[in-house]
Amino acid sequence: MDKKIKIYAIIYEKEKFMKYTEFGLVNTTDMFCDAIRNKYAVPAFNFYNMETLDAILKAAHITHSPVILAVSESAMKYMGDDILIGMIRGAQISTSDKIALHLDHGHSFDACRHAIDLGFSSVMIDASHLSLDENIKLSKQVAEYAHKHNVSTEAELGLLAGTEDENTSGTQSSFTNPADVETFVNATGVDSLAIAIGTSHGAHKRTRNDQELRFDILADIAQRLPGFPLVLHGASNIPQKLVTIINEFGGKISGARGIDTVQLRRATNMNVCKINVDSDLRLGFTAAVRKSLSENPTNFNPRDFLSAARTTMTQICVDEIKSIMGSENKI
Ligand code: G3H
Ligand code: 13P
Ligand code: ZN
Repeated sequence: MDKKIKIYAIIYEKEKFMKYTEFGLVNTTDMFCDAIRNKYAVPAFNFYNMETLDAILKAAHITHSPVILAVSESAMKYMGDDILIGMIRGAQISTSDKIALHLDHGHSFDACRHAIDLGFSSVMIDASHLSLDENIKLSKQVAEYAHKHNVSTEAELGLLAGTEDENTSGTQSSFTNPADVETFVNATGVDSLAIAIGTSHGAHKRTRNDQELRFDILADIAQRLPGFPLVLHGASNIPQKLVTIINEFGGKISGARGIDTVQLRRATNMNVCKINVDSDLRLGFTAAVRKSLSENPTNFNPRDFLSAARTTMTQICVDEIKSIMGSENKI
């Protein structure tokens, strides 16, 4: 091999397996401690391209909020490892920014190990569809590997409903059984627990406006796990103004309804210190692109409509950090 190429290959391999501190990332341990103590939630926003990543980081910067950058397995596949890690490196994050890079809904030990080896600072093992014993076994295996690399681990008990992603089992849901949570956390050693109390993935979360989350279950869990970080998935607010714009400019989304702000704020007072949002940014992206293309029919420069999408998503993140998470100025 040419000497120059060999040196490049060595540098490349070294960079590929750099750990998260080298990207300026942090794990979620200190974030969650502070969030529980001060009763707010750290937002976990999903990203899958440059525009979504940049919008989230910009919002974190504007609001001085810690943020968790969430990447699903399918988003990882979409971006490819090298582009994903290249973008994270290019974002020039500093440890003082309090940014974590998190694998969202890892479905196997291998998926979690791969993310950890790439430089993720936090992983979720989602074995919630398995039996309690199998869920414990797999979550424990991931937590042990993650902890060797100082990476935080989230696991899930209970099943979320949802029909618009690959991470939930259709319309079936089952609330988390509070009687299982202590055994699960003690047996697995995980650092945070995602629970099912009535949220669901996608844009169709409720059939009525007055539908409440199961705060009785949340209170029971929080009492059994004092000071332990809890996580809400499927917690998008589904702003109706975005749905209206989408439909006004040619979209067809009906019956979309999210979790209301007041209920999410209430959950942050009960040890929920991570709130996951993906659908709201998807709606914002789509609304901005549809509007821009429709209002500028002669335009065919993607940078124009993608800029509109990026600005809209930044604003959504800023709004939710302030009105839902309570994480503004918490760096
Ligand atoms: O709950 C997960 C997110 O909504 C990610 O969905 O797998 O389609 O990227 P995705
Ligand atoms: P939403 O579909 O409510 O945005 O949920 C996102 C999520 O839970 C990602 O893990
Ligand atoms: Zn989720």
